[in-house]
Amino acid sequence: MAMEDRRSFLVATGAAIVGVGISADAAPRGRAAVTPIEALVCDHGILRRVMYLYDEAARRMEGNEDVAMDVVGACAATIRRVIEDVHERLEEELVFPRLERTHGELVGVLRRQHGVGRGLTDQVLALMKGASADHLVFSLRAFTRMYRPHADREDTVVFPAVRDAVGPAGYRELGEQLGERTRQLLGSRDEDRALEDVARLERALGVDDLAKLMV
Ligand SMILES: [Fe+2]
Ligand SMILES: [Fe+2]
Repeated sequence: MAMEDRRSFLVATGAAIVGVGISADAAPRGRAAVTPIEALVCDHGILRRVMYLYDEAARRMEGNEDVAMDVVGACAATIRRVIEDVHERLEEELVFPRLERTHGELVGVLRRQHGVGRGLTDQVLALMKGASADHLVFSLRAFTRMYRPHADREDTVVFPAVRDAVGPAGYRELGEQLGERTRQLLGSRDEDRALEDVARLERALGVDDLAKLMV
């Protein structure tokens, strides 16, 4: 299901759930019942899969192995398109403002990290044009070092807090606003590609077979 479809669906689903008096967080799991927060958590899944590819590329470069730079560049482009240009803007415009009073310090740090992350993605994209492997490894490692705890903090603290803070009606309103803003940000772009893109990049680096990722 495309990102827009997921968020469009959650608007209808959220309305239906609230309409029959069942809390939004009682929605069943699965693609057919994505809530506003579940859509954001799915984005983090895309982000984590790309960060694993960053890890793998950095590890190989540190071992002087060959790494296809076009794959690393495509990873950074996916983060820009899916996470920085859409997901983070949704957080900054619609999620964080609802927590300024109760979690002001935390959302301040998270906002600053979004800015730092965009700078690191700029660096990765610029380094595709030819620079030392050391610089590229530094940027990849810096990004993942910051963003894993960033996404984990959002999943475990920020998203539960916003759901609790706004209540069922506010959660429905948040879902409607996330859906509308997603449509505005995506425009005519097809976001259905995100998962397929990540799977293709995993194949390109030879780490697509989950069964092989065991000790
Ligand atoms: Fe974030
Ligand atoms: Fe996030």
